[in-house]
Amino acid sequence: MAKKMQILIFPDSRLRKVATEVTKFDKSLQNLAEDMLETMYDANGIGLAATQVDKHIRLIVMDLSEERNDPRVFINPSYKILPDHNLFEFEEGCLSIPGFNETISRPDKIDLKWQDINGISHSESPEGLLTVCIQHEIDHLDGKLMVDYISTLKRDRIKNKLLKDFNRK
Ligand code: NI
Repeated sequence: MAKKMQILIFPDSRLRKVATEVTKFDKSLQNLAEDMLETMYDANGIGLAATQVDKHIRLIVMDLSEERNDPRVFINPSYKILPDHNLFEFEEGCLSIPGFNETISRPDKIDLKWQDINGISHSESPEGLLTVCIQHEIDHLDGKLMVDYISTLKRDRIKNKLLKDFNRK
């Protein structure tokens, strides 16, 4: 049975750790992916990076479907921004920054590579929400958060509010 994990809340310093490459595609990786999906669904999120549950490996889970029945797992994901991209603005949310949405602009055309839970390599040129979401989640694996794209003033306001609401280190 998959179990719910605790999600780290900004400004927890563990959210700043850079995740390492996955090299072992074993049962414990599968269990972690299942627990992360359970945690993501329970929190009503569309994506979750392992960093957010204090596991510092390059693993992301996601479900972009309306019906919440299309779980996806991305291991060791990376992308290249295509030269003919435009910047696309999207109002993003983050399970580690509950209660705040911020409009962030990101490149709208990327080439994405990743491995699945069995270690098989895949590539895709995604469209729409996946393009934004995977960039947001890969940022997490690199210790980066969506609040890094906004002004210091706004970031500090969010930080102080969350420090008050969530009494965690
Ligand atoms: Ni996030």
